[in-house]
Amino acid sequence: MKIVRTVEEVRAIRPSLGRLGFVPTMGALHDGHMSLVSLAADRCDAVAASIFVNPTQFAPHEDLALYPRPIEADLARLEAANVALAFLPSPQEIYPAGFDTRIEVGTIADRLEGAVRPGHFSGVATVVAKLFNIVTPDVAFFGQKDVQQTRVMRQLVRDLDIPVEIVIGPTVREPDGLALSSRNIYLSEAERGEASALARGLKAAEEAFAGGVRDATALRRLAEAPIRQTMGIIDYISVADPDTLEEVDLIGPNGAVLSLAVRFGPTRLLDNVILG
Ligand code: PAJ
Repeated sequence: MKIVRTVEEVRAIRPSLGRLGFVPTMGALHDGHMSLVSLAADRCDAVAASIFVNPTQFAPHEDLALYPRPIEADLARLEAANVALAFLPSPQEIYPAGFDTRIEVGTIADRLEGAVRPGHFSGVATVVAKLFNIVTPDVAFFGQKDVQQTRVMRQLVRDLDIPVEIVIGPTVREPDGLALSSRNIYLSEAERGEASALARGLKAAEEAFAGGVRDATALRRLAEAPIRQTMGIIDYISVADPDTLEEVDLIGPNGAVLSLAVRFGPTRLLDNVILG
């Protein structure tokens, strides 16, 4: 595995990598990240992964400084998964002095996470566009876990004619259903115990949908019930169009995405299921 920190080094290695799959990450790698790496390995000649805790997608009050950075363990996992190229740029490499361009994403970025975290998806789109231009992958892999991010990525490559195929990998979960996240380590033992309520709520709604329920309010209530039994504070529970993420009242033939964000203390947990 080549471990590189500069744009120039990536550019020098890229031509030897053939059809390249790319997994952008912020590190603190877990089995969710690694599932995207193996998906990429299945579909491409070589895999590149980036580890970059991107400051422009964090608001000033968020956890940028605290964000876990277990670099040695991360590199060992990438190496063991046969990743060909690990790109670990410094903030200065990505945002050198004088950097002054940002990608402004449209309405898809305004709702849900975007409403709670203004500017977040602009930061994500900007860094991913840069990473795409640096790494020039054929295919890039994103997790269903961050469903709105996947929609923003599809919008980005379509609107800006970026020649990268976007592939979405399924959410990897703990045995009790909690979606893996680098932020789960922030949970106290009590919070960790309660956090499985998100997955239980989603499962209840999923089962009701399978049983024929199409009313968004009814499905939201089912998802909400187990979470209400916990200390978690619900930021949103959304039943939305799977492409535009616009809220729907009644789920039609296109199906829907049921997504939610819940806060346990300072820790925000996200999860979702696709209905239909
Ligand atoms: P990060 O949170 O590190 O996630 C990197 C990728 O792993 C994302 O595509 C995310 O959706 C995926 N992922 C996270 N948890 C997962 C799980 N439990 N199952 C499957 N996939 C999972 O998302 C980011 O970083 C950043 O916003 C980034 C795209 C790197 C831009 O900075």
